[in-house]
Amino acid sequence: MTSFPDGFLWGAATAAHQVEGSNVNSDFWANEGRMPGMERSGDACDSYHRYPEDMRLLAEAGLNTYRFSIEWARIEPVPGLISKAQLAHYRRMIDTALGLGLTPLVTLHHFTNPRWFAEEGGWLGERAIERFTSYVEAATSILDGVPYVATMNEPNMLAMMTGLARAMQQAQASGEWQSPTVENDNGARKPLPAPEPEIGKRFVEAHHAVRDIVRKRTGAAVGWTVANRAFETRPGAEEKRRELEYIWEDLYLEGSRGDDFVGVQSYSAQWVGPEGIEPYPPHPDNTLVGTAYRPDALGIAVRHTRDVTGGVPIIVTENGIATKDDERRIAYTAEALQHLAAAMDDGIDVRGYIHWTALDNYEWGHWEPTFGLIAVDRETFERTPKPSLAWLGDVARGGALPELAREATAR
Ligand code: FCB
Repeated sequence: MTSFPDGFLWGAATAAHQVEGSNVNSDFWANEGRMPGMERSGDACDSYHRYPEDMRLLAEAGLNTYRFSIEWARIEPVPGLISKAQLAHYRRMIDTALGLGLTPLVTLHHFTNPRWFAEEGGWLGERAIERFTSYVEAATSILDGVPYVATMNEPNMLAMMTGLARAMQQAQASGEWQSPTVENDNGARKPLPAPEPEIGKRFVEAHHAVRDIVRKRTGAAVGWTVANRAFETRPGAEEKRRELEYIWEDLYLEGSRGDDFVGVQSYSAQWVGPEGIEPYPPHPDNTLVGTAYRPDALGIAVRHTRDVTGGVPIIVTENGIATKDDERRIAYTAEALQHLAAAMDDGIDVRGYIHWTALDNYEWGHWEPTFGLIAVDRETFERTPKPSLAWLGDVARGGALPELAREATAR
């Protein structure tokens, strides 16, 4: 395939807590002050006020899609009290996107919870699903004209974080904060603990409960987004890989059977040996979050997703690289897109590619790993688009990778 189909979604993604700033009523904000080793989100990128500029930069570059999340902690500041003003704020965001020709893909839950929800027991509390359901009922009132809704972002990583938070509470220890995305700082950090399937099953239940609500109340296609680890197998480790793949991914991918789409989120690939997941070996090519440079992971991730879901249409809802070197970002993305195109050539139904992320933002406890297509001055909030934004915008406009487009014109 030399080009991507007409109507393909080309976009960039953000998450509320990472860009909005002052998300003071969320559990994540509360923890930022408590955990050693964790930086604060503070004003973040002030996108709560500057979203029109952010969206305009994406649209002007040539992208046609914007994935963003709405913040439960703002919409429902105390149980049962729905803020009409906050709903109106997110409705303005949707209208702004539509007005700029950006297809909005709205995530209802991207890692953060209202503080009160966490205090009530969080996702392990008795009322969790009832609480989430009633938030989603309120949120659906503003989703008119939104074609894609993701119920939850990376429930598999959230299950891991939920287990970790419980363990820390039980030990009454403060412990060192471990970001869900900083996998291994060249061996300096511990590998991420596995998500507990019992917690994961809760998320599947929650997802199914709200999927039906979103379908009934809006015309949107509904799915959720799953972090793909793109496991590769050392000789003799097939069984171990299958076991880990179930715990990390397949439980959640099976949960998306019957959805209208599934979000694939892919950054790197990782080896599994007979003893388990092998930490990324230190290497000069490793990214700023310690993961291996593996643009081919996206191909592995979409193929695995197709195999497990049985062919639920795929949208790549996150793919990107933490690097200071923007040329490297372009090289990574170009190669990832080649692997995506190859998978599509093999018949895999992929509807879009949404890059992580629009802005250099708050990476769950750390400011250093920059994944953005746009740099942000943290004093003035001035946005400076990087060459990678223009590059991706050109790919979007042409519906083809530049080298391939050049070849096509030469013919
Ligand atoms: C994913 C998260 C996203 C961002 C990227 C780098 O796990 O969904 O918020 O942190 O990783």
